[in-house]
Amino acid sequence: MKERLVIFDTTLRDGEQSPGASMTRDEKIRVARQLERMKVDVIEAGFAAASPGDFDAIRAIAEAIKESTVCSLARANENDIRRAGEAIRPAAKRRIHTFIATSPIHMEKKLRMTPDQVVEQAVKAIGWAREYTDDVEFSAEDAGRSELDFLCRVFTAVIEAGATTINVPDTVGYNLPGQFAETIKQLIARVPGADKVVWSVHCHNDLGLAVANSLAAVLVGARQVECTINGLGERAGNASLEEVVMAVKTRADIFPVETGIDTTQIVPASKLVSQITGYPVQPNKAVVGANAFAHESGIHQDGVLKHRETYEIMRAEDVGWTQNKLVLGKHSGRNAFKTRLAELGIELAGDEALNAAFARFKELADKKHEIFDEDLQALVSDETVTPEDEHYKLVYSRVCSETGETPEAAVTLTAGGAEHKAGAVGSGPVDATFRAIESVAKSGSELLLYSVNAITTGTDAQGEVTVRLSRGGRIVNGNGADTDIVIASAKAYLNALNKLHSAGDKVNPQGDV
Ligand code: KIV
Ligand code: ZN
Repeated sequence: MKERLVIFDTTLRDGEQSPGASMTRDEKIRVARQLERMKVDVIEAGFAAASPGDFDAIRAIAEAIKESTVCSLARANENDIRRAGEAIRPAAKRRIHTFIATSPIHMEKKLRMTPDQVVEQAVKAIGWAREYTDDVEFSAEDAGRSELDFLCRVFTAVIEAGATTINVPDTVGYNLPGQFAETIKQLIARVPGADKVVWSVHCHNDLGLAVANSLAAVLVGARQVECTINGLGERAGNASLEEVVMAVKTRADIFPVETGIDTTQIVPASKLVSQITGYPVQPNKAVVGANAFAHESGIHQDGVLKHRETYEIMRAEDVGWTQNKLVLGKHSGRNAFKTRLAELGIELAGDEALNAAFARFKELADKKHEIFDEDLQALVSDETVTPEDEHYKLVYSRVCSETGETPEAAVTLTAGGAEHKAGAVGSGPVDATFRAIESVAKSGSELLLYSVNAITTGTDAQGEVTVRLSRGGRIVNGNGADTDIVIASAKAYLNALNKLHSAGDKVNPQGDV
C-alpha cells in the first residue's frame, strides 16, 4: 500500500490573488464543485477576513461541499481566525490555515516583530483556531528564505500547540529542488513530533521550479502538496495541480505515494478555471495545453499510430481530453440539453435559469450547426451571473466597418436598469464599441489586456474574449463569448465593468499586516 499524497487546492485563494482573477461567489461555487468532483482532498476556499464577499463565498462553499475538506486562510491574529472559523462552520470537514512570516526580511521589514514575538503569536493562533476545528494547518510564510534553526523552533512550538499540518512555503519561488528537499528532510528529522503531523509544501513558480520543488519534497517525506489548477497564483503562480498529480501517477515507479484524484476531471477543471478567470492556457502547457497530446512531426505521428507509447507517456483520455464532441444540434430538446449540462457537472439554479440558457442555446444553434461541450460551458457562464453582479447589461450593438472608412459603433445598454444609447468611432469595430460603452459608463479605467480565442474550430466558432481593466489599483478580468466577436467583446467589456462596479475593498492576506 502506498501512502496518500494529500492534494490541497488553493485556486480559490492563492489563484485568486493573480491580477484580475477574482471570481464571483457563484463562480467560486462552480469551481469548488468541480474540485470536489475531481476528488481534491482539501479546497482552500478563500481568505475569510479579506471582505464580507469573500466570507460569504467561503460559507456558501462550506455549505455546498460534502466530500472535500473546506479550508479558509487566516493571518495569525484573533480576528482573522475567528472570521475563518465562522466561515467554514457549516462544512462537513473543515480546516483553518493560519500563517505568519518567519524569514529575517519579512519579520523585520514587514511584520516589525522579533523572532520571539513571532513564535508567541503563532502559538496563540493555533489556540484560537483549535476552538473551531481539530484540523489546523500552520504555514511559515517565506520559509524558503528562513533560517532552518528558527523554522525548527516555530514548528516545534506550533505542533505542541496542536497544529496538525505543517506547511513549508517557498513564497517567493527562490529555492532549487535539491536545496528545498534538503530543508524538508532536515525539518522532518529535527522537529520533535514531526511524525505526528502531515508535512506540506507550497511552492511558487518565479524560477519555473514550483512543480520540481514540490516533487523533490515529496520524495523526502512531504505528504501534502499545495497547488492550483493551471498553476494560477501570485506572480508566476503556484505549482500546477495537473502536473504534480500526473507526475506522481505516471512515475509511480519512483514515487512512494498516490493521490486520490480522479484524473479524468483535470481537463474540465482546467477549462472551467481558464474560462472563469480569463487566464488562457498556453497551447504547449503540460497536460492541459491544447498541444499536449498533438503530434506535429511526421515521424512522431507514424510512431504513435504504430504504437502509441512510442511518444506518449500519458493517455489523453486519462486526463479528460475527449475529441471535440458534437453533443447537441438545433433539433435537440430541453431534456437533452439539461442532461448534457448535468453530465458536464453544471447545475443551473432553478427552472428560470434553465429556460433562459435553453433559449440562448437555441439562438446559438441557429448560428452554429454543431454545438460542443466548450460552447455549452461558455453559454452557461452568462446564465450564472446574478442580478447584483450585473449593473451594466448589453441590449443592442451595431458596427459599421468598410474599407477606407472610419469604423463606427452604436450601442444600447442598461446601467442600473436605465437604458442608454451611445455611438462612437474608433480605429476598428471593437475600439469603436468600447468607446461607445465608455461614453456611458465613464469608468475611467485603463484597458490592460484584450484577447480573443476561438472556443472550438471553424469560422462559425464562438470567439471568447477577455478584457482586463484596471482602476485605482484594482484589476479585473471580464469575459464574453459569441459567434460575433464584436458582441463577445462588448459582453467582456461590460463583464469587467460589472466586476469593477461590484468590487468592494478587499485585503490581500500577504500584502497587508
Ligand atoms: O506563498 C505563501 O507563502 C502563501 C502562504 C499564505 C501559505 O500563500
Ligand atoms: Zn502562496
